[in-house]
Amino acid sequence: MKPVKVGICGLGTVGSGTFNVLTRNAQEISRRVGCEIIVEQIGARRDNPNCITTTTNITRDIFEVATNPEIDIVVELIGGYDIALKLVLLAIENGKHVVTANKALIAVHGNQIFAAAKKHNVTVAFESAVAGGIPIIKALREGLAGNKINSIAGIINGTGNFILSEMQEKSRDFADVLIEAQALGYAEADPTFDVEGIDAAHKLTILASIAYGVPLQFEKAYTEGISKITAADIKFADELGYRIKHLGIARRTAQGIELRVHPTMIPKQTLLANVNGVMNAVVVDADAVGQTLHYGAGAGAEATGSAVVADIIDIARNIGGANTNPVAPLGFQAEALLDTTILAMEQTETCYYLHLKAAEKPGVLADVTKILGQSGINIEAIVQKESDQDYVPVILLTQQVAEQKMNEAIAAIEALDCILGEVTRIRVEHL
Ligand code: HSE
Repeated sequence: MKPVKVGICGLGTVGSGTFNVLTRNAQEISRRVGCEIIVEQIGARRDNPNCITTTTNITRDIFEVATNPEIDIVVELIGGYDIALKLVLLAIENGKHVVTANKALIAVHGNQIFAAAKKHNVTVAFESAVAGGIPIIKALREGLAGNKINSIAGIINGTGNFILSEMQEKSRDFADVLIEAQALGYAEADPTFDVEGIDAAHKLTILASIAYGVPLQFEKAYTEGISKITAADIKFADELGYRIKHLGIARRTAQGIELRVHPTMIPKQTLLANVNGVMNAVVVDADAVGQTLHYGAGAGAEATGSAVVADIIDIARNIGGANTNPVAPLGFQAEALLDTTILAMEQTETCYYLHLKAAEKPGVLADVTKILGQSGINIEAIVQKESDQDYVPVILLTQQVAEQKMNEAIAAIEALDCILGEVTRIRVEHL
C-alpha cells in the first residue's frame, strides 16, 4: 500500500510531540496501519529544538501545506481561531483530511468545518482537542455508542487542576503555580483561557455535542474560572470533607441540557477529587454501562501528540478503502442532530457552599437564615469560624436549589448591613 503523507502545521509543544511520536514509533505504526506514514512537510514560523526534523521539508508558509498535492492529511497545531480556520477550510477544499488539536476552533467553528468536510468528502478528527492524551472522544463516539448518556463531569483543564492541586497540597500562591504550568508547556498561550475556564468550556462544548447529538453551542456554556478561589475556601472545603475542583459538567435533564464549567466542591472520597496535578479525568454516566472513568495526562507534548497520532492512524486506515459510512464528527449523523434546549445557568440546579463575611453582632445568622428560608433554600450545614479580623467567616452548605433562587438569595444577603463585601459561592456536586 502507498505511504500516507502528512503535513504538520505548527511546531510548538504539541507539534514537536506529534512529530517525535510519529517518527520514533514509525515501525510499530506502519505494522498497525498496513502502510508507512510519512511527514512530508512541516509548516512552522520557526524550528523547535525539541524535535529533529532534518529530513523533512519545512516551509514558513503554512498555507503551502494545505495545497501541497502530495499531502493526504493536514495536521493543524497552530491554535487560535482565524488563521487556523482559514488553514483548515483551505485544506478541506483541497481534498485533504484534517487532524486538529484546536478545541477553540472546533467549539466555535466546528459546525461550519464539519459541513465543509462533508461536502468535500473528507474527515476532520480532533481527539487531541479534549483531555490531551485520553481517548474520551473515541470512547463517547464509539465505545459508548450504544448508550444514552446521562451526564459527563470532568477535570478537563490540566493547568487549572495543577494550580488547584498545588494550592491545596503545598499552600502555594496562585500566580507562582501558573508560571510553573506555563514553563512546563501545559498552559494556553493566553493563560486566561485556562484560569477563567474558557479552555474547559471549549472542551465541554465538544463533549456535550458528542454525548447528546446536538450542534456545537459554545456561546451557551456557563463559564467560570478558578481565579477567585482563595486558600481559605480550599481550607474550609477540606474541613467539611470536600475538595474544590474545576469541573466541566454536562447533564441531561427533562428540561434540557445543563452545560456549565465552574469550580465545584466534591466529596473527598470521590474518584475525581483525587485526580491531581496536570492529570485530567472524565466520569461518564450512561444508561447501559453505568459510570466509567477516563483518566490520563490532559496536556503535554507527547501525551497530546499520542491523540493526534491516533487520529492520523484512524484516517490512514480508511484512505483508499471503501469506508462508505464513517463515524460522523459528532458521532451522530449531521441530519440527526437535535435542537434540544441548552439550559441557561439560572435554570440549572445544584447544592451550594456559601462563604459570608459577617459583622460580629447579634442576630446576623438569624437575618441570613431568614432570607434562605424565605427563598425555600434548605441549609445542610452552617459553621461560624473564629477570626482575628473585624468580621467572622460564616460557611453554609445548602441542599439542591435552582441557580436563579440562589442568585436572588445571595443578592438579598449581600444587601444586609451586617454582611461585608461579596458572598463567595461554590457549587457542590455529589456525583
Ligand atoms: N491548556 C490546556 C490544559 C492544554 O491545561 O489543559 C491542553 O488542552
